[in-house]
Parts: sequence; structure tokens; C-alpha cells
Amino acid sequence: MSAWPENILLASSHSDPYPFYRSLAEQGWHYDASLGIWLAASHRAVRAVLDSPACRVRPLAQPVPPAIAGSILGQTFGRWLRMRDGAAHAGLRRAVMASLAGLPLQEAEASAAALAGRFLSEGELSGRRIDGLIDFLPVAALAAALGWPVAGLSAAAERIALVCRALAADADEAAREQGAAACQSLLDELAALPGEGWLRRWREAFMDLDETALAANLLGALFQSRDAGAGLLSAAIAWRGEAPWDWRDEGQWSQRLRADPVLHHTRRFVAEDVELAGQRLKAGDQVLVLLAAAAQDPAGPGEAMDFGRGRHACPGEGLALAIARGALRALEEAGADWSALLKQMVFLPIPNARIRRFGEGSAR
Ligand code: HEM
Repeated sequence: MSAWPENILLASSHSDPYPFYRSLAEQGWHYDASLGIWLAASHRAVRAVLDSPACRVRPLAQPVPPAIAGSILGQTFGRWLRMRDGAAHAGLRRAVMASLAGLPLQEAEASAAALAGRFLSEGELSGRRIDGLIDFLPVAALAAALGWPVAGLSAAAERIALVCRALAADADEAAREQGAAACQSLLDELAALPGEGWLRRWREAFMDLDETALAANLLGALFQSRDAGAGLLSAAIAWRGEAPWDWRDEGQWSQRLRADPVLHHTRRFVAEDVELAGQRLKAGDQVLVLLAAAAQDPAGPGEAMDFGRGRHACPGEGLALAIARGALRALEEAGADWSALLKQMVFLPIPNARIRRFGEGSAR
């Protein structure tokens, strides 16, 4: 592998993209002419973009990607908190924040540990099995907390995988059809859940909104947890392979996530001409917001940026870390051979997240 990633979309799967990110952070802003996109890289530029009402999560004229518009997947996507701005976003955000705050994290960690323990006991403790756990657990732990039947958790994680594939930039028509079918099945399954415990908290928080908003955002939370959760868990395993570290300590997570981030960038669409952190942007411009570069900016405050900042910052941070801690506990108990796992480790070619694979040839 070359010393410098070929372009920004290959940085998250490069073995050491951090000198590249630091050099971008020092420039603050950079226009990538080959991709036709602005890169906001310094901490100041990243914060300015994330805080600016002129920078939206979707292009103004395209609230839903045209390829899925009109399908059940497009309708669901269009209702996600993550994909809205303005007053609609504020109302959904209050409801989702209140719902997520209603889940005791110790319980979530214990339940994730139990699910992970069961998953690991079902076969040989190989790299492939651990890859399977990484794909299964973030979605399964969240679904279990919502009251999903245990027997249906694997299918739920697989359906979310199909939704992720359908929304990837390189998805074809077949992937979109499968994603739409998976989306419909998940909505049906969500509607059939008993509505007790944590799900009751969601219903209460969504009282002023409609049922379709609730169902879409439950599915949205499952979707958001998958790739980022896989990145988080696979990073924690890789760091454990390098040396023992105390994953029970919150400060250790922040330090490590700053030095070796999981979520490398997010995207914004400029809705009106604006000047941000000394850079003029025009309506219609796109900005890649380099969270990984901002975290490493020598002129920044030296903090991890993995969970974003500003009005779209991740409401699932505490839960995601609890799930990862549960997994590590189960892996310790199962006697994982941490350093052996590193020997076959590769990075998946996913542009915005750093996700490791430990099993030889295991696809996703
Ligand atoms: C239980 C797992 C998770 C859930 C339920 C969850 C949920 C969400 C939701 C609903 C949003 C949209 C918030 C908004 O637009 O107002 C969001 C945003 C975000 N999440 Fe998470 N998330 C999870 C795990 C993670 C993990 C593990 C990471 C990083 C390692 C992460 C990083 C982010 C970032 C960076 C954003 C902001 C994106 C942006 O500003 O464009 N999330 N998350």
C-alpha cells in the first residue's frame, strides 16, 4: 500500500491515513477537483460546516435519492431524522433523543454481552465468526432492546444489511429491490412488536408525531447502528490485538477514537451562498466534512469527532459504546486470541467508515 491514500474516499481503508489527514487539516479547506467536492478538514472548518444552517444533510431539490424515490425504501429514508433539516428535524430529534435516553446503558451492555456470548458459542472462535459477530451485534442488540424475538435477530441484521447495500453509492437495481423488500419486512416486524418496555418509551416520545415517523425512525436507528457499530467494534478488537487496553474506561475510548477514528467523514450540501471559516461556498456545492482530520488538527482542541457535532450529532453514542463493551466482555470470556486476529486483518473499502475484517476472505 502506498504511503498516501490515492484520494479522500480511499483514506478510511488505508493502513495509515493520518499524516494525509493532518496535512489537510493544516490547509483548513481543500477543493478536490477530481471529485468536484470541497473538503472541510480543520477543526474550525468542520465545526463551521456542521453548525451552519446553510449546510444541509440533503440537496435542497432531492430530499430522497432519485433512484429510490417512490419506493417504500425512499419513503422511509425521507422520514429519517438523519436526512431532515429545519423544524421537521428538530421535532424528530427531540423524540429520538428522549427515546434513546430512556434505555439504561448497563442493561444494554449486559444484554449485548449475553447476545455476543451466545453467538460466539455457536461455533469455532475464528476470525470469520468474529466478523459475523461484528455484522450481527450492533443491530441485534438494538433490536433486542426494542423487544424483537431472539429467533428473529439474525434475520433483522441481514435485512438491515440489505437496506445498507441498497443505499450504497454503487447499488444496482437488484440491490435496490432487495433493500426495498427488506425495508417492508422490517416495517411489518416493527409493527408487530409488543410495544412494552423500551418501545413504549419510543411511542410516548413520538406521541405528537405520526406512526409512520415512529416506524421509519426505529428502522433508521437500526440502520445507523450497523456500519458505524461494526467499525467501532472492529476497531476495539484491533486495538486489543495490539496491546491490552481498558475498554471499561470511557477516557480510553475517546483517546483511541481520536488517534484512530472509525467514522471518517460525513457530507453536507450547501443550500445558499455562504462564507465559512474563511472559505466562500456557493449554493449547490458539496462538502465532505472530514471528522477524522478535524480530530487530528494540531490547531484544534484535540478531541475525538467520531460521533459528529452540532444539531445532527449522534444520539446513539452511549448505546453504541455500551454494545461494544458488551462484545468485548463476551470475547474476553470466550478466550479470543487477540493477536492472532490481527494477522489476517484487512480494511473494507467503505469510504466513510473504517471497518476491519479478521477472517480470511470473509465478505460482507
Ligand atoms: C446504537 C448505535 C447507533 C445509533 C442508534 C445511532 C443513531 C444515529 C442517528 C439517529 C443519527 C442522526 C442524528 C441526527 O441527524 O440528528 C446519528 C448520527 C451520527 N452518528 Fe450515530 N448511531 C449509532 C452508532 C454510531 C457510531 C458507532 C458512530 C461512530 C463511530 C456514529 C456516528 C454518527 C455520526 C458521525 C453522526 C452524525 C452524522 C452527520 O452529522 O452527518 N453513530 N446516529
